[in-house]
Amino acid sequence: MTVAYAPGKVILFGEHAVVYGRPAVAVPVTQVKARVIVEDAPKGCGITIVASDLGKTYRLKDAPLQDPLSFTILNTLELLSPGPDLDLKVTINSTIPIARGLGSGAAVSTAIVKALAEHFGKNLSKSAISDLVYETEKIHHGTPSGIDNTVIAYEAPLYFVKGKKMEIFSVKRPFILLIVDTGVKSHTKIIVEDVRRAWERERERYERLFDEMGAVAEAGRRAIEDGDIEEIGRLMYENQRLLKLIDVSSPELDALVDAARRGGALGAKLSGAGRGGNAIALVMKETYTRVSKMMKGAGARGVIITEVR
Ligand code: MEV
Repeated sequence: MTVAYAPGKVILFGEHAVVYGRPAVAVPVTQVKARVIVEDAPKGCGITIVASDLGKTYRLKDAPLQDPLSFTILNTLELLSPGPDLDLKVTINSTIPIARGLGSGAAVSTAIVKALAEHFGKNLSKSAISDLVYETEKIHHGTPSGIDNTVIAYEAPLYFVKGKKMEIFSVKRPFILLIVDTGVKSHTKIIVEDVRRAWERERERYERLFDEMGAVAEAGRRAIEDGDIEEIGRLMYENQRLLKLIDVSSPELDALVDAARRGGALGAKLSGAGRGGNAIALVMKETYTRVSKMMKGAGARGVIITEVR
């Protein structure tokens, strides 16, 4: 039996603009995890998938076309080539809330790839894991930038430019983030498509806004590397202002960001595709209880506290 885990993620700066080639910054969130167990099954059983959270058990050979779980398993096995006629049970659990901008799909795929590789005694590089997961991300999200699979596979603070550059960087002074759930699903694929339509209608304006978001992400990385926590917070508010201008915030997210500001958070913004999902707030040890209370009062359904280091 082999067990593997993968963390969730949040985007600190640059979501959406990253789809258009601008830089973005993301960090893993280890408080939530996807877990995959691979076990040998009795001979002749084939591959069975147990999707525990969905309450579903099914044979891989009966899976619907484009089923992300079977797609990931088949792709990974093709790369690992462990031999024909495999009898396996693959059990999937996750504590990462679905459709909340926390990378639940990428984390599940990553844990599948890692568990299968380990089960067959193969060592896959982080880059190979990330590439495999990216293939499944296309099923989930259509035209993903690749930031989710990359930050989750590498499990480190990441500066990312689609198709060009990924750099792991260091956090000079650890900082505390509240990850606060609106209780509303964030449908990445639909929102990314909406943004694309808006970009097609108003190219110049959107390009300018994406440039500004890219500059915020650059400055955000520098502030994290310099340990300038106030500047990180200021840039988060600025990024939120820009995200509102491309219409990916929502009344629920605005209320949470507003409550964070009133509670004394140094910064706050939506994280991920938006229109729901999670807001993140940058807080100090002295303020996190108050900020968290204010955000709960403004409709937060759940709060995860994480330290970025
Ligand atoms: C999703 O986590 C972030 C988006 O920028 C989409 C992407 O990067 O693929 C909205």
